[in-house]
Amino acid sequence: MSKKRLSIVDIANNLNISKTTVSFILNGRAKEKRISADMVEKVLKYVKEVGYKPNSLAKSLRTGKSNTIGLIVEDISNPFFGSIARLIEDKAYKNGYKIIYCSTYNDTQKTKDMISMFRDRHVDGYIIAPPEGVEEDITSLINESMPVVLFDRYLSTIDTDYVVVNNQFSAYNATQYLVGQGYKNIALITFANDQTQMVDRIKGYKMALKEHNFKEIIKELPFSEDLTESITAFLKSRKGIDAILFGTNRDATYGIKIMHNLGIRIPDDIAIISFDDSDAFELHSPQITTVAQPVEDMAEHIITILLDKLNNNGVGTKNQSVVLHTDLVVRGSSQKTKK
Ligand code: RIB
Repeated sequence: MSKKRLSIVDIANNLNISKTTVSFILNGRAKEKRISADMVEKVLKYVKEVGYKPNSLAKSLRTGKSNTIGLIVEDISNPFFGSIARLIEDKAYKNGYKIIYCSTYNDTQKTKDMISMFRDRHVDGYIIAPPEGVEEDITSLINESMPVVLFDRYLSTIDTDYVVVNNQFSAYNATQYLVGQGYKNIALITFANDQTQMVDRIKGYKMALKEHNFKEIIKELPFSEDLTESITAFLKSRKGIDAILFGTNRDATYGIKIMHNLGIRIPDDIAIISFDDSDAFELHSPQITTVAQPVEDMAEHIITILLDKLNNNGVGTKNQSVVLHTDLVVRGSSQKTKK
């Protein structure tokens, strides 16, 4: 049978003082309430002796604040989301907040359940990379003056704060670079969904090819667990491809493995660029050219906007749409070698 957790009432009864006095002392308000140093010492000595741990849920019910932030990402094991989550956690902690995070895997119902769980946990604010279909849930959070910051993608039908990169120009620029290297049959392998960042990357790729009257070669993948079959079939069927832009780090990782298995040489047979930089792409031989997203800058903007909302109780501050620039990090995987 677990030992009953001591409450503030128990402490007050055991020391024969008021619950209010104990509460003021434990919440650092003794001086403000002119409580004597002896009384403070008596209470603090006792709570240390009995190993009292504040009940954070009871505190959040009483004060309406839990000093926690709900972070909802697509997949925490993905290097992009993992690195941005760690940066957000560091910055939140430095400002007195703890992060509770979870992954949606782009599953609408799971995302709804996560938002509901965070409501029950009385989180003070939300940072969300939303899948499709959660507009209603996010709108209701905002209508309750709950601070919400979207990142990586936004929801075009809702006025929220969001932090993204210039996805369309980034994909356009990467494709233009491949054209400049002399490639003429450039494919885009990406994910099939209506998320704004993925839609904009396809737009950027198409815009670049249109300027040169090059044929679009697009493979849109399902967000399924294993992409091996889809990418293998595509690569086997499109013999004329001389370069590939991968829309995310996830399909690029699969693509590189499959190209090795099929004996396709990078860049001699097919040059590649991946959206999203990562240590693994730098360690590969040849190193992979990437569209590097500014994760440090993104995390800084996200947490700054959210803290501003939290400190102003979510009112008065105008919603911000932050669009950051990426860097095309040119490495060996995209450079035309002399044949
Ligand atoms: O899987 C991570 C990728 O998908 C990144 O490009 C990020 O922008 C997300 O959309």
